Amino acid sequence: MKNIPLVDLNAQYKNISAEINKSFKKIVESSQFILGEDVALFEKNFAKYADSNYTVGVDNGSSALELGMRALGIGPGDEVITPANSFIASSSSISFTGAKPVLVDCEEDYYNIDPDKIEKSISKKTKAIMFVHLYGQPVQVDKIKTIAKKYKLFLIEDACQAHGAKYKRKRVGSFGNFAAFSFYPGKNLGAYGDAGAVTTNNKLLAEKVSMMRNYGQRKKYDHVFIAWNKRMDNLQAAFLNVKLNYLDDWNNSRRKVAMFYNKHLAGLPVILPKVAPDVEHVYHLYVIRTKSRDKLLDHLHKNGIGAGIHYPIPIHLQKAYKDLGYKKGSFPVTENISREIISLPMYPEMKEADVLYIKKVVGDFFN
Ligand SMILES: Cc1ncc(COP(=O)(O)O)c(C=O)c1O
Repeated sequence: MKNIPLVDLNAQYKNISAEINKSFKKIVESSQFILGEDVALFEKNFAKYADSNYTVGVDNGSSALELGMRALGIGPGDEVITPANSFIASSSSISFTGAKPVLVDCEEDYYNIDPDKIEKSISKKTKAIMFVHLYGQPVQVDKIKTIAKKYKLFLIEDACQAHGAKYKRKRVGSFGNFAAFSFYPGKNLGAYGDAGAVTTNNKLLAEKVSMMRNYGQRKKYDHVFIAWNKRMDNLQAAFLNVKLNYLDDWNNSRRKVAMFYNKHLAGLPVILPKVAPDVEHVYHLYVIRTKSRDKLLDHLHKNGIGAGIHYPIPIHLQKAYKDLGYKKGSFPVTENISREIISLPMYPEMKEADVLYIKKVVGDFFN
């Protein structure tokens, strides 16, 4: 029996260990742990990478979303539209600002927020639309931009799963007023701990977030407003500077693995991921669908395959969000998906032989 994890961070580390170890030594020996040169360098490098004028490094993706929204002035009494089908942090970051998340169902084909269902959720209190490029696949940006323009709403990009993904040949990161990235270890660009970033073309917003992450300081011990410590660690920035050089190669390898899956799983009774028009998917996750989800998942695990579910309980059915007043049936597409999806192993170092093994195990299950 083969053992294929959902993500193999050790396989990645083996290929870049010399550079990573060198950067670890450099930071520890220099004692530059807080907002050092590597944070500044990463901010410069990542802004360029994400086709944005500015990047501000923060402590995680949730903070990137929260601080970006606070910098836009979003707070108590406001509503922000966000997909029901996402990781909880898309919604909880809205709640942290004091605003209310207003959920919208997802599309049947691509699992992203359904642009056709956004307008009916807009109220007088709506301040922004947050879209999430879920699983590494960009949303249909133009459609959502048109709605935001019509109602004069801010646009927020949750790009936490989509480093390097493109819409109309442009990388995600500057389609809205700001974008948030997470560098949680398992992401396409992951740190060796928590880290995140805000990207934007708005200088004032970048400056505001930069102060918000650092006690509201204009300069040392000169505090303009009350704020947090939500800084990116210099050590994580040093690791990210090494890894950023490999991101495009890794994303290409992910697409190759996805092609192996598409080729070898074709013909089996599962729904394969579909790619929307105008997008370049980066396959943070490779998600298939079947009505026999729970039994197939169990069979995969018994055969050494580390499959997962992203996500088994939609946000509106989480206990944490019972006060929003949604119920079973509020978002039928999201609910169906949550019962049927399986994320198969996906990481750049996977081989075709791994995919063939997974195909055999899935095939045996349906036979
Ligand atoms: C879609 C989405 N939004 C937000 C986040 C939050 O990022 P973090 O875990 O770095 O706070 C994540 C990460 O897990 C995510 O997948």
